[in-house]
Amino acid sequence: MRYSKIVGIGHHVPETVITNQYLTTVMDTTDEWIQERTGIKERRYMDPAKDTVANMAAKATRLALQRANLTEKDIDFIVFATITPDYFFPGSGVLLQRELGLESIGALDIRNACSGFIYALSVADQFIKSGMYKTILVIGAEIQSTAIELSTKGRNTAVIFADGAGAAILQPNEKPGILSTHLHSDGRFAEELYVRDPGSSRPREERQPEQILDTTHFKVVMNGSQVFKHAVVRFLEVINEALEANGMKKEEINLLVPHQANLRISQFVQEKLALRDDQVYNNIMRYGNTTAASIPIALSEAWAEGRIKENDVICLAAFGSGFTWASALIRW
Ligand code: UT7
Repeated sequence: MRYSKIVGIGHHVPETVITNQYLTTVMDTTDEWIQERTGIKERRYMDPAKDTVANMAAKATRLALQRANLTEKDIDFIVFATITPDYFFPGSGVLLQRELGLESIGALDIRNACSGFIYALSVADQFIKSGMYKTILVIGAEIQSTAIELSTKGRNTAVIFADGAGAAILQPNEKPGILSTHLHSDGRFAEELYVRDPGSSRPREERQPEQILDTTHFKVVMNGSQVFKHAVVRFLEVINEALEANGMKKEEINLLVPHQANLRISQFVQEKLALRDDQVYNNIMRYGNTTAASIPIALSEAWAEGRIKENDVICLAAFGSGFTWASALIRW
């Protein structure tokens, strides 16, 4: 049997640090409110002079390749999870392929928001298992700072979302590796967290340039409490689903790396599963919610800090827009 294994993990975040204190100068909010409700202390915003989703992903890739002792030329497929591609189309996967100087390998974009990285990992896992590809680059990368509304009107989302990129390299192995992935969605809740425009199902006159500045273009709409309520239920469900599918108990998880949505969500999940602090990794305090990038950034930092060792059981779990939710159980 052929399995896939993560052989390298890396990340990159932009240099510009945006503190809660800074946000209090552009909207009606406080450091206390943000920390108490979300756990976030600071986050990173892109620099338009040098950062793009694709080049941040390229920097994360180079770190992952270096840690895996591989080079760009070894990559034979890219799966790129983002909801904030550099262009409306084509996707950021091809821009990364160009940036890495790779000729004609396939590049696939995944648009599953906060669950995007696990969806991408699952797709890559199937390609490796089937024997179609040998070295797959899996990316989660976002630039959200250019879309959020930095004003009191947008404060429920502006204080949360931020920028960053993470990369994982998958290769075949005789032993797992990725033990399982579980993917879910429920589109009944699509409009609880969404950006409506530039959507295609609009009359032509509403899609003209003069409408670009209307209130729905690139504006994140989130029913925060609704998302929160569903998130805590689905996180637990999909983690338990992964454990049951592998005949494992929660005590066997060495490290849970949840999507960094809100520290309160991670703490709720930790408490319900009765996991110790050393069994859960959180870095939302430093980076905010980076959507598809949050899991690979957290994985990369946890690995660098020595929190992930050979043979450890790592559980990834995510919930977000769609709604979508997903988990991956990995033997490192
Ligand atoms: O990545 C996956 C998807 N996203 C998530 O998982 C996020 C899930 N949801 C959340 O994290 C939380 O719902 C938030 C952090 C977004 C909001 O926290 P909340 O406790 O659910 O607040 P709320 O939206 O119910 O609003 C409570 C109050 C409101 O004021 P009133 O109406 O009670 O007077 C808001 O206007 O807090 C106010 N508020 C703020 N106040 C200061 C909302 N945002 C802010 C803010 N600063 N930034």
